[in-house]
Amino acid sequence: MFNANTRVLLAALLASLAAQAVDQPAPDATAGTQKLDPAALARSRLYHPPGVPGATDPNIDNVYSMQIMALPDVGRMQAVGRKIFFDKSLSGSGRMACASCHDPAYAYGPPNALAVQPGGAAMDKLGNRAVPSLRYKERMPSFTEHYFDEEHPTGQDQGPTGGYGWDGHFSTLHIQAGLPLLAPNEMANASQSDVAAKLRKAAYAAEFRDTFGKDALDDDARAFKWLTLALEYFQRDPQEFFPYTSKYDASLRGQVALSEQEQRGLKWFNDKEKGNCASCHTSTPERPGTMPVFTDFGLIALGVPRNASLPPNKQHGFYDMGLCGPYRGDLAAHHEYCGAFRTPSLRNVALRHTFFHNGAFHDLHEVVEFYATRDTDPAHWYPRIHSGPNKGKVDMYDDLPVALRKNVNHDAPFSPYADGRPRLDKQEVDDIVAFLKTLTDGYVVPGKQTASAATH
Ligand code: HEC
Ligand code: HEC
Repeated sequence: MFNANTRVLLAALLASLAAQAVDQPAPDATAGTQKLDPAALARSRLYHPPGVPGATDPNIDNVYSMQIMALPDVGRMQAVGRKIFFDKSLSGSGRMACASCHDPAYAYGPPNALAVQPGGAAMDKLGNRAVPSLRYKERMPSFTEHYFDEEHPTGQDQGPTGGYGWDGHFSTLHIQAGLPLLAPNEMANASQSDVAAKLRKAAYAAEFRDTFGKDALDDDARAFKWLTLALEYFQRDPQEFFPYTSKYDASLRGQVALSEQEQRGLKWFNDKEKGNCASCHTSTPERPGTMPVFTDFGLIALGVPRNASLPPNKQHGFYDMGLCGPYRGDLAAHHEYCGAFRTPSLRNVALRHTFFHNGAFHDLHEVVEFYATRDTDPAHWYPRIHSGPNKGKVDMYDDLPVALRKNVNHDAPFSPYADGRPRLDKQEVDDIVAFLKTLTDGYVVPGKQTASAATH
């Protein structure tokens, strides 16, 4: 079996072989990484202020080699990481920890129905992305533009896949962890030194030194790197982050049967002519001995309605277009990627009260209805155009500039049947929602004292 790193190397190797096979000097696939749109890049620098790891620091992978020097114990790193994750003193406001947005009671997702969570030094700043759950990321590949699945070696390029963040921007958990600590709209620390100073005063400072070495807090930049590594290891704790204890897992293990309605929901979920959900939200084990994570990690444009309540969206002409920017700048020239966001896992989705990258929806039932009738009843989902020659027409896929709306996916379930009927009727939508509720962790198998143990 391949681990995540081998998988990435393999994908890169296949991609470079494929590139060599093409009889042209410079394959166009790399053009996007060279031709940057300066305006988009400037905006992305704003989002990643200098000093935020991942944006500007070419030596970031020193973080892993630092481990070789100090040999920290994994269990101790996880224990310190947990304390950091819940520590509100590590924020500019003193009132916000990672756990404020990523609440363990909600599968490390948002604890309320707000589209986006407030942060910043005075807790009055908003970003424009919904908080994702941090569970079930353990098999996520690093971002790649050309993904080849070694388990199903069809040689087919599955396109942009993987990476942390809705747009796949961050390659590792420690890079991702650095961002919220310094982002002005989140934990709002002024600098890495600012964080290191708070860390030296933390109740667990001695434990931090015991774990990473006596000098671990002496140098600000190094202390910051150790901190992000501790957070990364905490997020690799199987019991916390990939327990596989849902009713659906118990049914896969043969410990319980799904109800009739749940089984029907699973059927529509998988059926390519009906929900076709499993084509992106994988529902069967990808290989023996693993459990399905309900995402293929692909980045796709669904045409989710614009959330006009988000502060950046109040600016006319501003669009969060995911993979093509403006929050990531490296693929700005690839207009075909505009509107694409990473397919989230649907595990624990019934615990959420806010859905999609922009938090435009607040009800799971409504999300599934959106899939069923986005293209058959667009007036229900999108506003009408106020002025100009198209006045009164429905502004379909309104969270993308008009010229880029062609990027939106039209496979089932979006495309209706030939006679115009939606792929899912009301009962089938209800069934799918019932099935999605079997994906919540912590299910207790009848007759057993505790939730079943994880196997993966
Ligand atoms: C103010 C709310 C907030 C706080 C505090 C916060 N996050 Fe997040 N987190 C988010 C949002 C919003 C995203 C999605 C960002 C994006 O896609 O651009 C996110 C994304 C992530 C991701 C990527 C998940 C994925 O699905 O790709 C990880 C990992 C993460 N956060 C870890 C942390 C850690 C560790 C901390 C504490 C150091 C933290 N977060 C603090 C809001 C928050
Ligand atoms: C073509 C791939 C694809 C198909 C098919 C698909 N999804 Fe999705 N799904 C996505 C992507 C991509 C997102 C995130 C889109 C965004 O935020 O812009 C998403 C988001 C969701 C969400 C919101 C989760 C969250 O954390 O906010 C739910 C619920 C969901 N899908 C359920 C379904 C169901 C049910 C079906 C079948 C009826 C389905 N999906 C079919 C790709 C797909």
